[in-house]
Amino acid sequence: MKLDDSIELKSGKVLKNRCALAPLTNTQSNSDGTLHDDELNWLRRRTGFGLLSTCAAYVSEEGKAWDGQLGIAEDKHLPGLTRLARELSGTTSIVQLHHAGAKASLAPQRISADPSDGVRRASTEDLERVVNDFTQAAVRAESAGFGGVEIHGANGYLFTQFLAPEDNHRTDEFGGSLENRARLLRRTLQSVRKEVAPDFVVNVRISPVDLYARRGLTLSDAKQLCRWLAEDGADVIHLSLRDASGPAPFEEDKTPVVTAIREVVPPDVKIEVAGGIWNKESADRALETGADIVAVGKAGIIHPDWAEDVLNPSFEPVLPPWDPSRLREVAVGERFVSYLMKFPGLLVGGAPPRA
Ligand SMILES: Cc1cc2nc3c(=O)[nH]c(=O)nc-3n(C[C@H](O)[C@H](O)[C@H](O)COP(=O)(O)O)c2cc1C
Repeated sequence: MKLDDSIELKSGKVLKNRCALAPLTNTQSNSDGTLHDDELNWLRRRTGFGLLSTCAAYVSEEGKAWDGQLGIAEDKHLPGLTRLARELSGTTSIVQLHHAGAKASLAPQRISADPSDGVRRASTEDLERVVNDFTQAAVRAESAGFGGVEIHGANGYLFTQFLAPEDNHRTDEFGGSLENRARLLRRTLQSVRKEVAPDFVVNVRISPVDLYARRGLTLSDAKQLCRWLAEDGADVIHLSLRDASGPAPFEEDKTPVVTAIREVVPPDVKIEVAGGIWNKESADRALETGADIVAVGKAGIIHPDWAEDVLNPSFEPVLPPWDPSRLREVAVGERFVSYLMKFPGLLVGGAPPRA
């Protein structure tokens, strides 16, 4: 299995290679969530990736996290999304569907599994609405002409707030057992899958294990969750990790997470993994460890043609800190540059590296 091999997904879509651009928030949309040319230019420059994801796009105002976030919440977002999908027709393009839950800092009223400062405990009606908002957003992505969607169930946002035992102390059917904590994500996936065409790609991104702090996400729960997601119709399960080929940081079991998940998921459901992939060596390692598709975040910012570059034996990735002028040459607009300034150690003149 090679990086430049094509791969057929369960839904029948064929990716032209096994390299994906991970979803990357770039805050370049208009304030009302409609498409801005900078967002279009950024993605259009990266169609060499076999799977190309937009940034996390909000499915409802209630889930919106940042100014400049792309929206897929209303029909007013459709003309820009249609233009974007048309411009990305050289690859399989997907929209990452997002609800930030307690982290929805721009929402008029925030919801989450549990109440906390300024956050309301989501009622059953709220959760029905969430499922519906994701479903309507997926239908919008399909009518705009995208090849698929990715349900953002990772990185501490709404679905993770339900999945993580430390963040979910509910006693109703959405809290307690793994079955209950996974219910919201599974219902959403089932509903999306039902409403879109069979050849429309439906991915799910999860944080399979705790990475930075203990929230109770364990590898054994992740294995069961992934079995369910496969049953519920996911084409791809996308693992958000720090080290794509590494074990769970807080667990004794040193099996690479991607190996453990690959073993329990049927072969027709593909496993995508992101985390620390920069060159052919780390990408090949991820494939050998069990991934079917490798995703790059930071490497894809500085190397728009990474899917091709990485095959060149003399390719050496440009590691951070990056000079902002170099980013402007690769279709990274001003607002994205400003956003990246806040990431420790990423840009010359930006936030200092973490100690
Ligand atoms: C600037 C930036 C924006 C990101 N935005 C998103 C996002 O919108 N959705 C998401 O699921 N992950 C997001 N991530 C996480 C990446 O998709 C990826 O998982 C992470 O960067 C690790 O991969 P890497 O080591 O190749 O960068 C973001 C990361 C960065 C650096």
